[in-house]
Formats: sequence, structure tokens, C-alpha cells
Amino acid sequence: MLFPSTARARAALFGFLFMFAAAAVQAEAANTAAKLPNVTILATGGTIAGTGASSTTTIGYTAATVGVQSLIQAVPEIAKVANVTGEQVFQIASENISDAQWLQLAKRVNLLLAQSNVDGIVITHGTDTLEETAYFLNLVVKSKKPVVVVGSMRPSTALSADGPINLYNAVRLAGTPEAAGRGVLVAMNDQVHAARDVTKANTTTADTFRTSELGVIGYIQGGKPFFYREVSRKHTVDTEFDISKLDALPQVDVAYAYANVGDVAVNALVAAGARGLVHAGVGNGSLPAKTRPALVKARKDGVVIVRASRVGQGIVARNGEANDDELDFVVADTLSPQKARILLMLALTKTTSTREIQRMFYTY
Ligand code: DGL
Repeated sequence: MLFPSTARARAALFGFLFMFAAAAVQAEAANTAAKLPNVTILATGGTIAGTGASSTTTIGYTAATVGVQSLIQAVPEIAKVANVTGEQVFQIASENISDAQWLQLAKRVNLLLAQSNVDGIVITHGTDTLEETAYFLNLVVKSKKPVVVVGSMRPSTALSADGPINLYNAVRLAGTPEAAGRGVLVAMNDQVHAARDVTKANTTTADTFRTSELGVIGYIQGGKPFFYREVSRKHTVDTEFDISKLDALPQVDVAYAYANVGDVAVNALVAAGARGLVHAGVGNGSLPAKTRPALVKARKDGVVIVRASRVGQGIVARNGEANDDELDFVVADTLSPQKARILLMLALTKTTSTREIQRMFYTY
């Protein structure tokens, strides 16, 4: 007789079968988890963590109110594609991010990526300074593993909030081996951008992040990343910058040029202690006659001057609109003023030689 004759024996058999089934399910789950990438989400705030008064509130909402665990729980699909852990590094609107927070975030990223059980990192961030944080990390992260910065343009409470799909895509990207070695990436609106060249180009629309002339490096379609080009400038493990022992960054500011501008801003920034000054010039980095003497004097007083352009695209030519060799100025190449500032800050942690700094602007 195969089937046990007594109730006690039958109960024992069912108990065994149940435990066997449970163990099998557990083993399968463990086996599946073992195949999924381990992705850490570092949350910093922004609109992706924002809430509004109603589902139609897409401006006038409060950024940086939703915690990282809630962001993860709002997208249960993430658990099917990665083993995700979340950390709330800080909770701010990104227009307020500080040098100290940049250093804190970068050190946390480097510590995590040095762990063999971390395959990639996603950083949720406000979009206002997202491109700056991404470029800063592009210069100081010391790993080839994927680091993906993501945000949203609508708060989590809005109709068609873009945060959840952006977060899901960012996790997929961070867990994709092909994303490694490409530098810090920005994943927004189904596009993959290189940190060096992307910029926020619209105040409120979901397609705001653009790399208009140099182009996106890929797309995320149906949750799968596709890449179409490599970045040419050095980044991450190939840079000479090391922030591991830094607890502050040199003060570098930006002076914006426009019709009839004078020298008040330049003089004020230098008087406030700027060790470097990026001039966001008109056109090809032109120096207005009323600003130029203040920049020349600042250089003579030891402030490193970088000529950038407010235009947004193109190369600021060395010795084009000004005799940089004679003035001992540096040109920003194609970096925006806000990104030129970041590179100059890091350059000044290594050197004050304008020859060396110019090399860095042609390298990163
Ligand atoms: N306060 C802005 C910021 O945190 C909101 C913009 C956004 O995150 O999209 O960057």
C-alpha cells in the first residue's frame, strides 16, 4: 500500500512534502537572486522624491520629501531585475547641494563600488544640478562599474509621473555589464547620456536632459539599454583626481557675461576668495572691454582664469577671442561654465600651473 493508512502517517507525509516544496521554492528564489545584479540606490532628494498637493500639480510641488525605501516600493518591478538596497545619503532640493555633500556622496560611491557584492549604483537626484553632480562623479569615481544618475521632472504624486520609469530604467542600466567603463551616466526619458556633455535644457518638460550636438550615447527601450557610441574624454578610473582625503574643495566661481557688463561681479568674487574664476563669455568666450582688466588683474594676483562660453555648444578656441598665451588664461574647450568650474575646482587640488590645467581641460 503506497498511501499511508493512518492519519498520523498521512500528516507526516504532507508535512514532508510541504517542507520539500517550500525548500524548493526557496532554493529557486535564491538561485534567481544569485543571477540578478546587486544595485545600490543612493537617494539625495529632488523632484523624483517630491510630492504635490494633487495629481495635476507639476509645478509648485515640494521636492525631497519621499524616502528611498518608498521610492523603491513604488516600483515593485525593480525587484524582478535586480537585488536592490537603498540608502538615503541626504534629502535635499538639488539647487542646495554643497561641496561637502558632493564629497560625501563620492566617497560613499567609491566605498560601495569597491565591494564585490555591489555591481552598480543608481543615484536619485534633483534635476537642477544633476548634470554637475554627474560630471563631478565622472572625474572622481574610481571604478569601472556603472554609476547612473537619475531624476524626474514630475513629482511622485503627479499624473504620468516620470520618476518610477526613470528609476526602473536607471536600475536596469546600472545592472547591465555593457554599461561599465563608460563613465558616469545620466538616464532620463529613455535616453542614456554621458555625464560630461549632458545638460538640463528645459525648465519643466520631461525631455529636458539633452546632449544636443554631441548626442546621446544610447537608449533604454523596453527596459533594455542599447549603446551607440563611446565617450572620448577620460573619466573615472583614468582621471588623476583623488578626493579620498579631501574634506573641502577650492572656491571657484562663475562670472556671467552679457551686453554692457562691467567688472563688479569679477571683483566681488575675487574679493570673496575665489581661487579660480570661470568667465561665461558671450560667443566664443569673448571678454567684454569693461570686464577684461579685472580678469587680467585677478590672474596677476594668482587667480586661475578659465574662458568658457554661455552659448552652450562648441569649442572655446585658445588664443581666439583673447591672447590666452599672453594673458596666461585657460580655455574651457567645450565644457559649459558650470562644468568648467567643477574641473577647475579639482584641478586646483592638484596644481596652479595653467599649462597643467589647460592639459586637463583637453583631457577630461
Ligand atoms: N528643486 C529642484 C531640484 O531638486 C527640482 C527639480 C527636479 O528635481 O526635477 O533639482
